[in-house]
Amino acid sequence: MRVPKMINSNMQNRMKYVQIQMSLALLMTTLAFSGCYYDNKEDLYQFIQTACDTSAVSYSQQVLPFLQAQCLGCHNARDQQGNVDLEGYERVIHYVNNGSLYGSVAHEPGFSPMPPTGQQVADCDLQHLRLWIDAGAKND
Ligand code: HEC
Repeated sequence: MRVPKMINSNMQNRMKYVQIQMSLALLMTTLAFSGCYYDNKEDLYQFIQTACDTSAVSYSQQVLPFLQAQCLGCHNARDQQGNVDLEGYERVIHYVNNGSLYGSVAHEPGFSPMPPTGQQVADCDLQHLRLWIDAGAKND
């Protein structure tokens, strides 16, 4: 039986099409894998945890921004929930000295866990607070 020329070239076109599809798929797979491939630990864990920079901890750089973001909404001069005012270094230091600032944030027994809503603050914030207090809780 003679195969008509039309069908023959159609088949060839189809084969070409499949070949192109296959190489495209291969290319995409290669790209996808190379895009997700990290060969060092820092890159690999960048989405899981960002390194906590504990090299230079100060009141103005780490502690104050933390208090502003997480605590001052409920503990400011106007809204002193639980009679606690954390607005300004002079007031903050009072709660450092009686142990309740760290105690509450670290969820230590004997203190009301802070913030009262949700989970404990980020470990890095806690580390900064500890380091700052241990270094004398200076107004730096
Ligand atoms: C949603 C409001 C709210 C937020 C946010 C909040 N607090 Fe409080 N805080 C309270 C209330 C209400 C009390 C008093 C009730 C209690 O002791 O359970 C309190 C009590 C305290 C006390 C006294 C605890 C004790 O045991 O003597 C300290 C210190 C304190 N907060 C610090 C913080 C710090 C630091 C943050 C930020 C990490 C924070 N709070 C965030 C509402 C809040």
